[in-house]
Amino acid sequence: MVVDETPIVSIENLVKDFRPGFGLRRKRVLDGISFEVRRGEVFGFIGPNGAGKTTTLKVLMGLIRPTSGGARILGHDISEVGFRRHVGFLPEGPYFYDFLTGRETLDFYSRLCAVPKPERGRRVEELLHKVGLEDAADLRLRAYSKGMLQRVGIAQTLVHDPEIVFLDEPMSGLDPVGRKEIRDLIAGLHSGGKTVFMNTHILSDVELICDRIAIIANGRIVHEADAAALHAATGGEVDISVIGLDVGIAEGLERDFDVQMEGRGERIEIRLASKHVDEVIGRIVGGGGHIRAVAQVGGGLEDLFIETIGANRQQAAR
Ligand SMILES: Nc1ncnc2c1ncn2[C@@H]1O[C@H](COP(=O)(O)OP(=O)(O)O)[C@@H](O)[C@H]1O
Ligand SMILES: [Mg+2]
Repeated sequence: MVVDETPIVSIENLVKDFRPGFGLRRKRVLDGISFEVRRGEVFGFIGPNGAGKTTTLKVLMGLIRPTSGGARILGHDISEVGFRRHVGFLPEGPYFYDFLTGRETLDFYSRLCAVPKPERGRRVEELLHKVGLEDAADLRLRAYSKGMLQRVGIAQTLVHDPEIVFLDEPMSGLDPVGRKEIRDLIAGLHSGGKTVFMNTHILSDVELICDRIAIIANGRIVHEADAAALHAATGGEVDISVIGLDVGIAEGLERDFDVQMEGRGERIEIRLASKHVDEVIGRIVGGGGHIRAVAQVGGGLEDLFIETIGANRQQAAR
């Protein structure tokens, strides 16, 4: 996919202070954050609870004003209003009227977003289909599972066919099946050319669907990376389980890639640095061996997350 280089979102030196209560000292929640989101990507904004993700999103949505600094979306300053018709937003833990059905809810949001009447019916049906709720369209939301509500929530962001959607913790509180459904939905938006900005603290989902990430901790950006850099930089090891490994191939692997091997019955377990995984698997299969399992050991986003957050905490404590 061709990704346009002009940023669809650019945030510059954003600062937000809150006064926790009358007479109490101001608290700096966003401490000068800057980053960009490119057109057509799925961008993961990740960080521990309380890091400032929702606050950033509220500023971007114009719900609260920054203390200083600013941001542009689709080339417009966030204080403007007109461009918002090209933006969709799913807040964290959204609330819907639970006496409405799924179809009525989407019809309600299409009216709210001024979708012209002749298009409305078709649009609602399209969205019900897109999020897989056709069969539940006439059930009241009160009967929906959390995953179904979250799918209504995503459909709601799309009623006016925006260019970019902002999702605050779209997978939180869902079971693995529900999370996969939302991931698939986001992947579908991505392949349909939409830009997705997603706040989350669920790292396994980020690794699966995000093109780029920024990590926020204590109101500061502590790391930015694209998916390729993430995989290259974070390393870790891989375990490969093989049967029928040729002895000559095994010796070659030990010599060339510094792998560790252990026999378990007819299986051989091989541990290696993840950067060699393609070549090692190629040799095993080329030599007539059969791969039974491949598993990542450590490394990945989780290690990076813990390292960068840990380093940031130590700095903050100094
Ligand atoms: N309206 C508010 N008044 C005072 N403090 C707030 C307000 N909203 C958020 N905060 C504080 O700002 C920090 C960041 O919150 P938030 O942006 O919701 O974090 P995240 O979404 O990353 O979990 C937290 O310490 C939170 O308590
Ligand atoms: Mg939040």
